[in-house]
Amino acid sequence: MLDVLTQKVHDEARQGEAFAPFINDPAQYQKKFYIESYGCQMNFSDSEIVASILQDAGFGATRDCAEADLILLNTCSIREKAEQTVRKRLTEFRKIKVANPGLLVGVLGCMAERIKSKLLEEEQLVDIVVGPDAYRSLPGLIEEAEGGQKAVNVLLSREETYADISPVRLNSNGVSGFVSIMRGCNNMCTFCVVPFTRGRERSRNAFSIVKECRDLFDRGYKEVTLLGQNVDSYYFTPEATDNNARRDTVTFASLLEMVAKISPLLRVRFSTSHPKDITDDVLYVIAKYKNICKYIHLPVQSGSTRILQMMNRTYTREWYMAKINRIREIIPGCGISSDIIAGFCTETEEDHQATLSLMEYSGYDLSYMFFYSERPGTLAQRRYKDDIPETVKKRRLQEIVNLQNRLSRESNEKDLGKTFEVLIEGNSKKSDQDWMGRTSQNKVIVFSKNGAYCNKGDYVNVKVTDCTKATLLGEIV
Ligand code: 5AD
Ligand code: SF4
Repeated sequence: MLDVLTQKVHDEARQGEAFAPFINDPAQYQKKFYIESYGCQMNFSDSEIVASILQDAGFGATRDCAEADLILLNTCSIREKAEQTVRKRLTEFRKIKVANPGLLVGVLGCMAERIKSKLLEEEQLVDIVVGPDAYRSLPGLIEEAEGGQKAVNVLLSREETYADISPVRLNSNGVSGFVSIMRGCNNMCTFCVVPFTRGRERSRNAFSIVKECRDLFDRGYKEVTLLGQNVDSYYFTPEATDNNARRDTVTFASLLEMVAKISPLLRVRFSTSHPKDITDDVLYVIAKYKNICKYIHLPVQSGSTRILQMMNRTYTREWYMAKINRIREIIPGCGISSDIIAGFCTETEEDHQATLSLMEYSGYDLSYMFFYSERPGTLAQRRYKDDIPETVKKRRLQEIVNLQNRLSRESNEKDLGKTFEVLIEGNSKKSDQDWMGRTSQNKVIVFSKNGAYCNKGDYVNVKVTDCTKATLLGEIV
């Protein structure tokens, strides 16, 4: 039950979405691929790069895995459960492979990187294994696999950013698009497998980022989310070869500004920020531009300085609190969300209480909450014993979830009677008589279509009349 709860509050609720790109007529392609993505937004964004590479190699997308020549799973390793889900899915594909022996099955992403060629032995039906920096080699690997060989490329790169590849927008609502600005992570949080699966941090060419955002806007998109494991350490120095007047180094603050200037009608979001790296410059730029959304995802992980140290987060409880104060001071009304881990190695009841009190202090609008899952090869796995019993981890997680539910409700209740500018994303899930959109603070708001003529992608002012802990309800004013 708890796992369901955790998933609901995390992006992994999107796990296993099958993507069928709305691109050129699939009939024009001789072969078809089917792709499923798991895990973080970065993985979903990577799948759009993979789709672009495959399209250029003559593969069209299909929504139906039974008619595919190639099935790909873009996988996540962040918690053990994510890997279990993928393994289960692979066994389900076994049936299709029996019916269609020519079918190729490929594993992409973090799990491919973590388990490498061992995956081919463990999962007999896997033909292709490709790590996050090797997607350009997919067409060659597919050819190898078609010739009956198992094909693997899990080389990590210090340079690859796929800057020149135009992602094929998969299952997009046509309003919001994700744009990858950097890859990898240098932080080495002790619990985290990402630095091992996604490699060293590198920033993408700023001009190619701005170009991609502008292209999206020209195609009718109204919102871009700039993605990176740690966006605040974005750093790009233009070279003489960059056909642009600008020569000074681009930081995350200046990148945000460059993207915000594309048009006041293009909303800019970003994820994820690290408390140690988010600067006042970034906060001032967010405050300065109306179209940069007033929302920061600022994972705390734990409220105990001792645990934060063991996690190698490089900030203390007090430092984090000061950051929250600074955000509230520079960007009044800013939405703030967090990631929290319950039951990290040696965590005491006192440490746990410190997490609860820091959540209360921060007044998060939303949190993604997990219990600690030891990952092979991480610093924590090598250094510490995973010594908190599962029952204790789950009980603590439940307390964290309960508190977050109250905080989310309180945050929504504070919005009652206020009017927000909302970007309409589409019909509400429950009724096509209602629109669903988001406020700048990233809150979902549902309101009746009655009484006003507007469309998906429009900005409207909506007054909040009611709320649940997860959603605001309102009416157009
Ligand atoms: N166990 C539990 N949660 C984890 N996260 C990362 N690694 C682990 C782990 N081993 C969480 C962190 C991170 C989010 C993306 O996933 O909270 O911010
Ligand atoms: Fe993992 Fe920490 Fe990097 Fe986030 S910042 S990806 S938690 S190592």
